[in-house]
Amino acid sequence: MANSNTSFTPDQMRDTQGLLFSGYADMSHCSYYLLEIKDAKKAKAWLKIVANRITAGEPDKDKRKTTDALNLAFGKPGLDKLGVDTSYFEQAFQDGMHSLSRATILGDEGDNQANKWLWGNDAKPVHLLLMLYAEDEATFGKRQQEEESAFKSGGLNLIQRLDTINMENDGRFEKEHFGFADGVSQPMVESFSNKSPSADPQTPQVIPTGEFVLGYPNGYDGKITAVPGDPAKPDNQRYGFNGTYLVFRHMQQDVPGFWKFVRAEAKKQVIDPDYLAAKIVGRWKNGALVEPGKESAPLIDPANPPDMNTFDFRNDLDGKGCPYGSHIRRTNPRGQGLGVEVYVAPGTVSEENIRNSLKVANRHRIIRRGRSYGNFLKNPVKDDPAGERGLFFICLNANIERQFEFIQHTWVNNLKFNGLYDEDDPLIGTYKSTWPGFKRSFTLQEDPLRRKVCGFPEFVKIKGGSYFFLPGIKALKMLAD
Ligand code: HEM
Repeated sequence: MANSNTSFTPDQMRDTQGLLFSGYADMSHCSYYLLEIKDAKKAKAWLKIVANRITAGEPDKDKRKTTDALNLAFGKPGLDKLGVDTSYFEQAFQDGMHSLSRATILGDEGDNQANKWLWGNDAKPVHLLLMLYAEDEATFGKRQQEEESAFKSGGLNLIQRLDTINMENDGRFEKEHFGFADGVSQPMVESFSNKSPSADPQTPQVIPTGEFVLGYPNGYDGKITAVPGDPAKPDNQRYGFNGTYLVFRHMQQDVPGFWKFVRAEAKKQVIDPDYLAAKIVGRWKNGALVEPGKESAPLIDPANPPDMNTFDFRNDLDGKGCPYGSHIRRTNPRGQGLGVEVYVAPGTVSEENIRNSLKVANRHRIIRRGRSYGNFLKNPVKDDPAGERGLFFICLNANIERQFEFIQHTWVNNLKFNGLYDEDDPLIGTYKSTWPGFKRSFTLQEDPLRRKVCGFPEFVKIKGGSYFFLPGIKALKMLAD
């Protein structure tokens, strides 16, 4: 492969789409447009113009646009329609999230099968994903009208507009529908943070840029992940350069179902429902880590909020705080539980083990950029649950297979994760839903004996989804030619 060995300078950052660096948290309004290309020639003309409106990454805070933002990603069928050779893209993208091969990896079976989805399957393939954000209603309405009015002349058919909602916010984090602070942990990316990766496990983990942007050395083997485009050209002249892959999962959440189950089980076991729910997530509702010996959420001083993201599990090796099977310990098993540890006497911390496990966990990181949809139930058991609510889960990664799919397959769906016996992710697990008689369970490692909660229903359903490619700014113009 021809390599460019380009370093990620501020100019390279200006050539990426802004979503890589920001979830646009200040812009509370957001719509996702799922589009189909009807006329490729007209779509290319539209793309040439829209490319000038796309929000790029901007290192200088003062120059960042704050009123509105626009980003654009391409599905494989869309690139095919534009005549782009998609054989250069990674296999998962070529197969598509809805394919049998990927469904098998993701565990999308039973009610979660792609043929039951609202979009993203063979019946409704998505060519383009246009993401619009704005800080206030007036700007949003105006920008929605501007974008929507260009679809017809641009040869585009609007399959569906997915509107998100403004969730409760504690000033730092938005809540997701189950009531927990979301977006607390994001990887610290080398060139976005001006910090270098360090071998010291006690420092915040800094992840190489190539894990999230194509064209730079990755954190796996230091090589550059395949950059889609003409293999005769160096990486930095291909349309894949400064791009990344975007994973979109339309995930419906059964909020009353979650809280009814948690309350009933907590009553049976004579524990506080918020304690059980926090154990399921691995964090309290306010985002604080569940630590050993703590039975309620620590108070957070909003004037002086603590860093809730610089930790590993060295102080909780036996999972008595944050359970092995909890959502956050599975999706980022920092420093423990990956089977790479050598034996040490119980209760002993081995720096080498921590370091090895962190190294492995850091090869499977994602940047999460999702937003919630549907009305928020303040009282999840009493409020009228009419309507649908959930998360438009979006994540960015340079290698879908090694990052997003690995997390979903090898950690979230893994019934034997970290020595457990028959448990998948208690919060978002959907796997084995078609196994007759299979009962999902969840273990809380506690003193003197572990506590087991059995018969977990599925709280999340997959209603749609697709793999997309989020190109760099110059690449958008190349794709329009
Ligand atoms: C309805 C679906 C989901 C809900 C409600 C949900 C909720 C949460 C919550 C409350 C947190 C803790 C706060 C935070 O760090 O942001 C979290 C963390 C996380 N979630 Fe999810 N999540 C969902 C789906 C997923 C999926 C599909 C994946 C990937 C396969 C995923 C991966 C992660 C990761 C990587 C973290 C951060 C772990 C860490 O670094 O500590 N989540 N999620």
